[in-house]
Amino acid sequence: MTFCLGQLALNSNLLLAPLAGYTNLPFRLLLRPLSGLGLATTDLVNARSLLEKHRKALELLQTTPEDKPLAAQLYGTAPEEMRDAALLLQARGFDVVDINMGCPMRKVVRHGGGSALLADIAKAQNLVRTIVLAVHIPVTCKIRLGWDDVNITSPELSRALEDVGVAGITVHGRTRQQAFTGTVNLDGIRAVVRAVRRVPVIGNGDILTPLDAKQMLEQTGCAGVSIGRGAFYNPWIFRDTARHLTNGELAPEPTFDERVAFMTQHLDKMIEFIGEEQACRQFRKIALAYIKPFGPVAEFRRRVVMLETRAQFDEILATYRAWRQQLRPSTDAANPR
Ligand SMILES: Cc1cc2nc3c(=O)[nH]c(=O)nc-3n(C[C@H](O)[C@H](O)[C@H](O)COP(=O)(O)O)c2cc1C
Repeated sequence: MTFCLGQLALNSNLLLAPLAGYTNLPFRLLLRPLSGLGLATTDLVNARSLLEKHRKALELLQTTPEDKPLAAQLYGTAPEEMRDAALLLQARGFDVVDINMGCPMRKVVRHGGGSALLADIAKAQNLVRTIVLAVHIPVTCKIRLGWDDVNITSPELSRALEDVGVAGITVHGRTRQQAFTGTVNLDGIRAVVRAVRRVPVIGNGDILTPLDAKQMLEQTGCAGVSIGRGAFYNPWIFRDTARHLTNGELAPEPTFDERVAFMTQHLDKMIEFIGEEQACRQFRKIALAYIKPFGPVAEFRRRVVMLETRAQFDEILATYRAWRQQLRPSTDAANPR
């Protein structure tokens, strides 16, 4: 199916949500050939740091020709800085500029960026207007429902953003106050869908299975969904969801071995890009995102958070496999998933 953000036609309405430090270039490169993914996004990058060419900002924007289509996500508060940073991203060939209005972190919010913009619609609108007028690639925004339960600003904000020409709005169905607690509020996303006239709304939050994606699409009327943590729970979720939406088919969840193979490929690709030492360090927390569906995992977790070498990773895995075998030999044999 074709899904459009402004002039940009994507071949799926299933998007990868940015998870800073997790959905890195190696992950995206492994995910794309599994099919079903319409658009991925970089980690959030500070506009001023980008203009000042800080090493960290440039690293976050690292990409390759295979890593397409790709949005770059910016945060900041000064309209001129955001505009200039967006122009730079356009010149570098990014397909979309996404403006972060959802990040709950104090270091982002303190300066008026991220989810602080939810509480100042005029400021958010002015910021986005300045960017939209300057670039010709689509500009999208990623928002939350509002600052807290009594300040649900997302419908009004979305309408204001639509008025200044955004090409799409992603709504994480939580408030800033909720951060990542509680469950996603589908009625809140639906209210955004109802508020806008034509701009596509992309629902986000807590999608772990194709059924969750279908439920979000049906209950909110959103035009697409974006999936973050669910892509670590099941890297094939985009393919499986696309198939489920097309013909109702429900693929079995990946097996333990398939999950382990994908996780290991992710580490190996990170090593290719940034070397063994850095990759192993950065992979410590990433491994924790993969092991959620593994069941009892305390020993693996305890050791992987100190990962230093690739050989050590193999050894930790081998020990864990042996431990799983002795834990539930009959169950594992009967149910290899
Ligand atoms: C570790 C982590 C990092 C995140 N980084 C970003 C980010 O850089 N930009 C952003 O817009 N959202 C970020 N998010 C929010 C996610 O994109 C998404 O909105 C949220 O996790 C809910 O979707 P999910 O349940 O599919 O993961 C992050 C979330 C997590 C857990």
